[in-house]
Amino acid sequence: MLITGLSGSNGLEVGLSRAVNKELLPIEMKLFPDGESYIRFVKDVRGEDLIIIQSLYPNQDKKFFELLLAVDTAKDLGCRRVITIIPYLAYARQDRRFLDGEAISIKTLLKTLSFIGVDYLITIDIHKEESLKFFNGNSMNLDPTKLYVSKLYGVVRNPVVVAPDQGALDKAVKLSKLLLNSTYVVFRKFRDRVTGSIRHEVVDVDVSGRDVIIVDDIISTGGTVANIASYLREKGASNVYVVCSHGLFVGEALSKIYSSGVSRIYSLNTVPLPVGVESIDITPLLTEAILSLNLT
Ligand code: R5P
Repeated sequence: MLITGLSGSNGLEVGLSRAVNKELLPIEMKLFPDGESYIRFVKDVRGEDLIIIQSLYPNQDKKFFELLLAVDTAKDLGCRRVITIIPYLAYARQDRRFLDGEAISIKTLLKTLSFIGVDYLITIDIHKEESLKFFNGNSMNLDPTKLYVSKLYGVVRNPVVVAPDQGALDKAVKLSKLLLNSTYVVFRKFRDRVTGSIRHEVVDVDVSGRDVIIVDDIISTGGTVANIASYLREKGASNVYVVCSHGLFVGEALSKIYSSGVSRIYSLNTVPLPVGVESIDITPLLTEAILSLNLT
């Protein structure tokens, strides 16, 4: 088994190869002057099981195309099986036609990965697990809850776990089960599909004097979290913590969230994180997943 990382791996291949005691495969990568991607395998990969790590952010399309080049080339060169680890699977939120005529982007992305010959797809906390039906092969969606708990344990006291929308309900339930003395509450969020603006239905929660943890899969503009955080602070929450899987923090997201009264933000290191966000390392989760596959 060989392990390699492309430009969006966030360096995860290094820790993973050490943890599973397998060789790191160097790949030559560059951009042509006009911006086109170039990759070259500089070692023989014939007959090998190859793990390729590539997160799809930032520059989703560029990262995706680089991944296609790598998978297709690995297959051409005679790799036995190609396992892609895509910690952040971009386009997963566009999983249906919200407005007539829209692309179902995650379907296109997963169909392409199937077509190109990916044998096994591993991702973390995909926006909706059912989207993996569009991938025609084996797949695994890793649950990060125990990693969240390892960070939050001992930090939060008597917490209320908050799902900022229905989509985060399962996450809140799981997190609350693993955190001692906690309860959970779910908000309803409404998004204007044309302007993108959001609003929440008010829920009368008693958070007075308690710590609150807002949990979500993705933080993009920060609007969802900031909206809920300022409401919970008004209701008397002692501290508001935020934990997410994929911290994209577009534009002014981070300052928007801190201005809303949040004390700390935690995110998995599925993508590069800005200063001000505490990173939760996903290497243990990836290691467990790879070892479970019994690759040669
Ligand atoms: C959407 O349903 C996701 O689960 C997140 O709640 C959303 O992507 C967060 O976006 P933003 O940070 O822009 O509010």
